[in-house]
Amino acid sequence: MVYAVEVDNLVKRFGEILALDGLTFKVDEGKIYGLIGPNGAGKTTSLRIMSTLILPTAGSATVFGRDVVHKASEVRRLISYLPEEAGAYKNLSGYEYLQFMGKFNSDDEDDLKAMVEDAAAISGLGERLRDRVKTYSKGMKRRLLVARALMHKPNCSFRRADQRLRRFAFLSCSWHNQTVRGETRRHCAAFQSQHA
Ligand SMILES: Nc1ncnc2c1ncn2[C@@H]1O[C@H](COP(=O)(O)OP(=O)(O)O)[C@@H](O)[C@H]1O
Ligand SMILES: [Mg+2]
Repeated sequence: MVYAVEVDNLVKRFGEILALDGLTFKVDEGKIYGLIGPNGAGKTTSLRIMSTLILPTAGSATVFGRDVVHKASEVRRLISYLPEEAGAYKNLSGYEYLQFMGKFNSDDEDDLKAMVEDAAAISGLGERLRDRVKTYSKGMKRRLLVARALMHKPNCSFRRADQRLRRFAFLSCSWHNQTVRGETRRHCAAFQSQHA
């Protein structure tokens, strides 16, 4: 059986700092998976390795059976990564932002149109998508970014859990919950969160 994500004895060193010391876990397809730990535990480092952004020092990680080091370009086609510090272009409207980002995923006009419509629906932002991103609240920006991360229907999405979730039970925010549950019918979503 092929796991959505399989991490085996992953080690990452930054000079003297041992950021990951033999991390091992498996995630089945269709599951939401949380990485929870205090600051400095290695959550971001492991997501960055799984997203092919940095190389592990030792050990392996695969996404749907593709090694993140040796099959990095195949892995990139299967995933989306929404980094903590992601920002949207503030002078664009939400629609313009989704269109702009969609062009990275497809040249086909019909494809792009369908992708943007999907993302618009996922965002739940309705008419506000016509307004500039700089007028959005923090929560609205986050919705837009999550919609962007899911617009090309990745098989696996990596992102940081919404800050608000920390105050409730894990993944209890309803919009996020519904969005992620819906997406995991097709995908695996991996999350990280911090200790409250
Ligand atoms: N680029 C880097 N260079 C040096 N040390 C790093 C780098 N990235 C992370 N670290 C260190 O690796 C450890 C794990 O960090 P990180 O993965 O960001 O943890 P978390 O996301 O769980 O808070 C920390 O000690 C951090 O300082
Ligand atoms: Mg982190």
